[in-house]
Amino acid sequence: MESQTVKWKHYFLYLAFIYAILYFLHTNLLLNNRPIRIKKWPHLPLRFRHDGTFKILQVADMHFGSGLLSRCRDVLPSHFHYCSDLNTTRFLKTMIQLEKPDFVAFTGDNIFGPSTTDAAESLLSAFGPVMESGIPWAAVLGNHDQESSMTREELMSFISLMDYSLGMFLDIDGFGNYNLSVYGAPGSHLANSSVLNLFFLDSGDRETVQGVRTYGWIKESQLNWLRSASRELQVQNQEVKYVIKTQPVDASAALAFFHIPIPEVRQLYYQKLVGRFGEGVACSSVNSGVLKTLVSIKDVKAVFIGHDHTNDFCGNLEGIWFCYGGGFGYHGYGRIGLARRARVILAELRKGDKEWMGVERIKTWKRLDDENLSKIDEQVLWELSPSR
Ligand SMILES: *[C@@H]1O[C@H](CO)[C@@H](O)[C@H](O)[C@H]1NC(C)=O
Ligand SMILES: *[C@@H]1O[C@H](CO)[C@@H](O)[C@H](O)[C@H]1NC(C)=O
Ligand SMILES: *[C@@H]1O[C@H](CO)[C@@H](O)[C@H](O)[C@H]1NC(C)=O
Ligand SMILES: *[C@@H]1O[C@H](CO)[C@@H](O)[C@H](O)[C@H]1NC(C)=O
Repeated sequence: MESQTVKWKHYFLYLAFIYAILYFLHTNLLLNNRPIRIKKWPHLPLRFRHDGTFKILQVADMHFGSGLLSRCRDVLPSHFHYCSDLNTTRFLKTMIQLEKPDFVAFTGDNIFGPSTTDAAESLLSAFGPVMESGIPWAAVLGNHDQESSMTREELMSFISLMDYSLGMFLDIDGFGNYNLSVYGAPGSHLANSSVLNLFFLDSGDRETVQGVRTYGWIKESQLNWLRSASRELQVQNQEVKYVIKTQPVDASAALAFFHIPIPEVRQLYYQKLVGRFGEGVACSSVNSGVLKTLVSIKDVKAVFIGHDHTNDFCGNLEGIWFCYGGGFGYHGYGRIGLARRARVILAELRKGDKEWMGVERIKTWKRLDDENLSKIDEQVLWELSPSR
């Protein structure tokens, strides 16, 4: 009887201990008296919806500083007084509510280093709306993100710990090179296969080449990684093709995201474009062969960039689309009278005899932060060729 009571006491204490640990982990840990929350994860894998679509919101150049203290640049004088980073936050919330994207891609200069003394705080405010929405998201860095209290490496590890973010580390040049797979529609044969691959590359910040300062570029190690990741994913797709003998599987499609345009984007000035070519293309003096690599790997249909805020066009180079997101943030430079904007990318699946198949079409449009949240420049970027 005696020993039985002791046993129960131990049992109770043990349960209480386990409960305390679980409670501790689920609410908050204290480190240096600051609460630390456990990261919230989105529902994974990323996949197409039941209606065969997957929508991405591209946010380029938020240039977030210190919130209310960071005033808007290049707005009408009558607007200046009541305009700050909070307008950027409001625009992000609005875009998320309006477009209901499945994923948000931030293409760099998310924060503007010189306007904040605490990068962590600035990142938390900048990405606040997307963390609250619970929508999975990922970010690459621009050339301004690291200009305050964190290095590029610290920024990427901080971002990778933020709620609902998807980002990783690879042992190649730069911080923030990674791929994400978007699986086929639920219930289809492709439900467990990647039909759309998203590649994120770090285009660096600044470099000095033979004594001359220029912008960063995508390095050979990154291109090697891109080639092998793309090949591996296409092989996986081939294997699926073998499994479903009755219905051919469409080749995989991919999209890429980085901050600084490649030098060839300059040539687009002479072509017919959808959107604005509002300023010179600020790119590196080094051409590291990104376009050649993209052409050779075949799956990347479109690349989404930022950096030049008043460029928001899509242009085609050797079969691959290069689209600017257009300046999103109010603390970033712009042009007076030109509304801040965001890009939306919609991938649509092909309807087979009985189920959704691979990607059939990739569309894009932009939304302006004007009174009507005007939808402009809608275009089809890529379509599965009918001669399949
Ligand atoms: C910024 O937000 C304030 C408050 O919502 C609003 O009154 C103002 O018009 C906005 N400014 C711009 C340029 O959108
Ligand atoms: C996908 O995976 C789920 C869970 O593992 C399984 O139930 C389903 O049958 C799989 N579907 C296909 C098409 O492989
Ligand atoms: C990234 O690509 C590799 C192939 O190189 C693949 O095995 C892996 O699952 C992909 N990662 C994600 C998160 O989709
Ligand atoms: C918004 O829509 C209204 C009604 O269609 C129109 O009169 C107005 O000019 C539009 N504003 C902008 C900025 O496009």
